[in-house]
Amino acid sequence: MRTFLIKSLAVSATALLALTACSTERDKSSSGDSGTAAKGFPADSLIGVALPSKTSENWVLAGDLFTNGLKEAGFKSDVQYAGASTTVADQQNQITAMVTNGAKVIVIGATDAAQLATQVAAAKQAGATVIAYDRLITQTPDVDYYIAFDNFKVGQLQGQALLDGMKAKKPKGPYTIELFSGSPDDNNSGVFFNGAMDVLKPAIDKGDVVVGSGQTEIKQTATQGWKAENAQSRMDSLLNSTYNSGKTLDGVLSPNDTLARAIITSVKGAGKPIPVVTGQDSEVESVKSIMAGEQYSTINKDTRKLVAETVTMVKSLQAGNSPQVNDTQSYNNGVKVVPAYLLPPVIVTKANAAEAYADDPKLAPLTK
Ligand code: BGC
Repeated sequence: MRTFLIKSLAVSATALLALTACSTERDKSSSGDSGTAAKGFPADSLIGVALPSKTSENWVLAGDLFTNGLKEAGFKSDVQYAGASTTVADQQNQITAMVTNGAKVIVIGATDAAQLATQVAAAKQAGATVIAYDRLITQTPDVDYYIAFDNFKVGQLQGQALLDGMKAKKPKGPYTIELFSGSPDDNNSGVFFNGAMDVLKPAIDKGDVVVGSGQTEIKQTATQGWKAENAQSRMDSLLNSTYNSGKTLDGVLSPNDTLARAIITSVKGAGKPIPVVTGQDSEVESVKSIMAGEQYSTINKDTRKLVAETVTMVKSLQAGNSPQVNDTQSYNNGVKVVPAYLLPPVIVTKANAAEAYADDPKLAPLTK
């Protein structure tokens, strides 16, 4: 089904290459563990955590949670973020420093999936275990584990929410939509997009859903750096071209909350009615927007759980055990299938927000 989707999308050769590079992760054909022999290490060892720049709230939260969680577990930690502009070089240097300082495990949320091969090779050579956190690291044999929310499922939930939201507003189609995807250097972007297209493509093929601009290739929909201003300016130009003579825009597939709000800002600025807009991350401003009836949906990927599970993985490694994984086939990084531990994402709309955030002290009050 998923392979079929990639083949059946009308993409150019270049776009197909980009898509494949982004999305080799869903190859179901092979399986296996990384073969890393767990030897264990001293309980107060240094654990390095290299996170990307703070492009969304989940990264800000993760940094604090890692610092506290690793400390509570008795480890020394070094938690670093890539800067805002020279992100790739920053992260490469940070990982190299962690290796030099003797980190036993290096947890990495990659800024650019394919640009860390040299650094993770050095980490492996120094005897460290490499865990890809939230974003897969590609084109290297030197990544041991992957931990994330199920990214393909995230995309499917977004696609379904878009259809449901439009139907609730206007029972009969056809519906006109636009598609946005994340940064091309983030492996997740292709997976989210493919998941969403898995749901949307049949409706597009039937003619129930029409992409107004005709821009259905991931390359055309990409948002470099996951930056709000890039999504906002693409939405501005779509509104000034495809929608400048009264055509109604019913829905927008947005891969995350930051971009959803940028898209909504653009639409409001143009004085048009807000379409159904999806999102992801349960950011505070987006939860408020959902409760106010503007953004339609988000995805709850509880960062507290993801970090806690990652710390559990580190503890297993410390004790000389193999961490628990629950998926040994989906995430082919172009060189190997990386054993993964995937958590289930939850779709959130105004209808279930109170229930979804009931145990979140920051978000629950917003849903009252
Ligand atoms: C994460 C999303 C986040 C995006 C931008 C992705 O890799 O999975 O949760 O919205 O990066 O920071």
